Amino acid sequence: MIIARTLADLRAGCASLRTTHRALALVPTMGALHDGHRALVRAAVSSGAAVVASIFVNPLQFGANEDLSRYPRDEAGDLAALEACGCQLAWLPDVSAMYPADDATTIVVTGPAERWEGDARPGHFRGVATVCAKLFGQVRPDRAYFGEKDWQQVQVVSRMVADLHLPLEIIGVPTVREPGGLALSSRNRFLTEDDRQRAPRLHAVLRATTHALAPGGPADAVLADARSELTRAGFAVDYLALVDGPTLLPLSAARSGARLVTAARLGAVRLIDNVAVEECPGFSGHRRRE
Ligand code: PAJ
Repeated sequence: MIIARTLADLRAGCASLRTTHRALALVPTMGALHDGHRALVRAAVSSGAAVVASIFVNPLQFGANEDLSRYPRDEAGDLAALEACGCQLAWLPDVSAMYPADDATTIVVTGPAERWEGDARPGHFRGVATVCAKLFGQVRPDRAYFGEKDWQQVQVVSRMVADLHLPLEIIGVPTVREPGGLALSSRNRFLTEDDRQRAPRLHAVLRATTHALAPGGPADAVLADARSELTRAGFAVDYLALVDGPTLLPLSAARSGARLVTAARLGAVRLIDNVAVEECPGFSGHRRRE
């Protein structure tokens, strides 16, 4: 596996991979890799592309009240994990390569970046869109892989790519979960032992809620029940909403392509999750997503 720490090394590495592979795939990450990240790398590898994974803890997507310095880092473990999954190039830029002092451009996505995480974390998607645009320009991949765990992020990046006519495809990969249903996340390590027991309720409640949503029937009371149940289970619910998958606009009734999205806190740890409403039995004619 090639390890690139400068733009010159990255360009040379990508040029050499292009001589042996017809396509380049990018997996952007912030490191502290777990099986969710591995699933993205494996999906990219199995597409036949040469895989570039980036590890960059992006300061621009952290809010003033979010502790960037506490973000877990394990470069040696991450590089070993990437290599074991078949990644061919690890791109580890430093902050000055990504954000030179004379940098004057950021990307602001509206539409799917508004509401939910956009409201809860002002500036977050500006940071995500900007770093992804830079990574796409640096690596010039044919496709890039993102986890559906961060559903809104996939939609924001897809919108940006479509709006800017960027020449790559965005591919969403289903959420990897623990056997109990908890979505893997680098934040799970900060849960207390008690909260670790409670955390799988988040996904359980989402799934139960998709079953309670009758197609076309009003969603409000069902969503209110779900919020109450999470509160009783010890969560502080930031939001739990039924939305249109690509636009993230709130829906008043379940329909095909809808998504239940949530963010809820256990102590200091903020968990996010989402499920497709196709899981609802009333939508059994549609493809199951998870
Ligand atoms: P990070 O949190 O490191 O996640 C990197 C990628 O892994 C994202 O696409 C995320 O959705 C995916 N991922 C995380 N947990 C997952 C899980 N349990 N199942 C499937 N995929 C999972 O997301 C970011 O970094 C950053 O915002 C980034 C896109 C790298 C831009 O800085």
